[in-house]
Amino acid sequence: MLEFLQSAEEAARRGGNVLRAWSSKFTVREKSRSNLVTEADFASQQAIHEFLRGRYPHHGFHGEEGLDEVRPDSPYRWVVDPLDGTTNYVHGFPYFAVSIGLEFEGKLVVGAIFDPSRDEMFLAARGCGATVNRRPLHRSDVPELSQAMVVASLPVATSPDDMAVKRFLRMLPHAQTVQRTGSAALNLAYVAAGRLDGFWSTSLKPWDMAAGIVLVEEAGGKVTQLDGGPFQLAEPNLLATNGSNIHQELITHLA
Ligand code: IPD
Ligand code: CA
Ligand code: CA
Repeated sequence: MLEFLQSAEEAARRGGNVLRAWSSKFTVREKSRSNLVTEADFASQQAIHEFLRGRYPHHGFHGEEGLDEVRPDSPYRWVVDPLDGTTNYVHGFPYFAVSIGLEFEGKLVVGAIFDPSRDEMFLAARGCGATVNRRPLHRSDVPELSQAMVVASLPVATSPDDMAVKRFLRMLPHAQTVQRTGSAALNLAYVAAGRLDGFWSTSLKPWDMAAGIVLVEEAGGKVTQLDGGPFQLAEPNLLATNGSNIHQELITHLA
């Protein structure tokens, strides 16, 4: 497992270096309304793919920017977001990351999230704990929602009628503060690091969540669906918290 973790780390760092190299020279395209992509997204994915393909030619690969390699004979699949938080990246708002998760027989076992702006490498492997820049990570001890900083990911092009927006507004009087930050992967890393106490979304893709799930669980946090049911990577339904009473409080207010 540790070999895979080192590979995830190296791949995430290579992706992050590509994002640094492209900053302020990229051009922006809209995949759909408000859903941005740049050369940096593709170049980061290419660097990550080349590295992992070189080491593990038989593993599956599932990358956001149209790079899907299905390997039915391998129990391993890399799930990669080469730039999570593209809108932030485009605006120079330094809250974006590379996210690399590894599945073994459909279970998430390794996660690496690299924030090139703060030079922070978040790593976790199943049963081995979680770290940031080699220091152990631990979820927060905040016991109640009224003392909590929580965060939501909303759909990219949303509207006041959207259920996700209504849920977000409903939470405002219950938490100490409710944020929307623009990088689901970093939100999960921050729940693992105890910098956020809870995070939810109903509009994420596997590559937004894969690495962060391992981080939150290995840092002592809890991950379920919004109604408390078992989390499933293929479904865009995620509630991640420090595992305190906050988890149940969020279920009550969000479901
Ligand atoms: C986005 C971010 C954002 C979330 C969006 C995602 P991208 O990822 O994670 O926080 O609200 O749903 O699409 O497009 O920047 O990789
Ligand atoms: Ca993403
Ligand atoms: Ca992305």
